[in-house]
Amino acid sequence: NKFTPPRQATARTVDEITGSRRLRRMRKADWSRRLVQENRLTVDDLIWPIFVMEGENRREEIAAMPGVFRITADLAAIEAERAARLGIPAIATFPNVDIQRRDETGSHILDADNLINRTTRAIKAAAPEVGVITDVALDPFTSHGHDGILRDGIIVNDETVAQVAAAAVLQAQAGADIIAPSDMMDGRIGAIRDQLDAAGYQDVAIMSYATKFASAFYGPYREAIGTQGLLKGDKKTYYLDHANSDEAVREAEQDLAEGADMLMVKPGLPYLDIICRLKDEFRMPTFAYQVSGEYAMIAAAARNGWIDGDKAMLESLLAFKRAGCDGILTYFAPKVAEMLKG
Ligand code: PBG
Repeated sequence: NKFTPPRQATARTVDEITGSRRLRRMRKADWSRRLVQENRLTVDDLIWPIFVMEGENRREEIAAMPGVFRITADLAAIEAERAARLGIPAIATFPNVDIQRRDETGSHILDADNLINRTTRAIKAAAPEVGVITDVALDPFTSHGHDGILRDGIIVNDETVAQVAAAAVLQAQAGADIIAPSDMMDGRIGAIRDQLDAAGYQDVAIMSYATKFASAFYGPYREAIGTQGLLKGDKKTYYLDHANSDEAVREAEQDLAEGADMLMVKPGLPYLDIICRLKDEFRMPTFAYQVSGEYAMIAAAARNGWIDGDKAMLESLLAFKRAGCDGILTYFAPKVAEMLKG
C-alpha cells in the first residue's frame, strides 16, 4: 500500500510546473506580507454591543460570556465615554428588562422611559459623538421571549410591525442614531421608515437585521437578557432557515426596497458566504454580528488554553472584513480597540 507518484516520462522541475510563478515569494518576510495585505481591521470597523439592566452602579458577569457584563445605565454612560476615547464608532444596546415588566404583548417597549430609552439618553449625554444603535424587537419585553405578539400560538405579523414601528419612534426620540429591527417580521423596515419620517426623524438610519438566521449561537444572549427560561418553542416561523442562501438575498433585497440603509448578517462566522453574496449583489454597507455563542466559543476555548484567544479573535474579525463587511458587531470591541491602539 505504498504511495507511488504518477509516472511521467520526464519529471518536470518546480519552475516548469509553476512557470516560475512562486507565490511564496511575497510571503517570505514580514515587511512584504504587510505590503501585500489585502484587508485590515481598524477601530472604525467596530460596533460594541452592551447589555443593560435596571439599577445604579451595578454590573453582573454573564456566566456564558466570560468577560462580558450586564451593566446599569449610569455605567453604560461611562462605557460610552470609554468607547469615545478608544475611537469605537458606535454602541448597540440590549436591555435585560425586569421580569414584572414583561407581558404577553411586550407593551413596555412603548414606554418612552423604559430601560432602553433611558440608556440611550444617558449615553448621548455622556458621549454624544458615539453612535447609538438600538435593537428594536419585542423579545426582551415579552413574557414568552418571542419577538412578536403571540396569539393562539402564532406570531402575529402586522400587529407586531405596528408596535415595533411605534417603539422605533420612541427610540429615535430618546436619541438613537440607528434603529436596528431584529425581529424579521415582514414589512417592518417600510413601516419603521414611514413612522420615523412622519415623526420628523428623516435622519435616523435603519440597519436591518436583514438576514437573521434561526440559530443555536444565540444561547448566551438569552441568558444575558433573561429570556432563556421564558422562550417556548423556537423562532423558525420568523427567522431564516439556516439552510437557505437565495432566500437571504430576497430578504435583503426586500429590506433595501423598503428603505434599509445598512444590512446585517447574523450570526457571523458560520455565514460568511451570505455576507459575501450580499456585498456582491447590493454593494451596500454590510455588517456582521459576531453573536454571543461565537464569543462564548472563543472565550471558553481560550480559558481552557485550547486556542490562543487573542489570535482567534483577530482572525475571526479579519475574516469578516475579507468576506466584505464594512463593520462588525462584536463583544470583543473594547478589547480589540485597546489592542489596536497599543
Ligand atoms: C432577538 C435578538 C437576538 C439577539 C439579539 N437580538 C436573538 C434571539 O434571542 O433570538 C442575539 C444576539 C447574540 O446572540 O449575541 N431580537
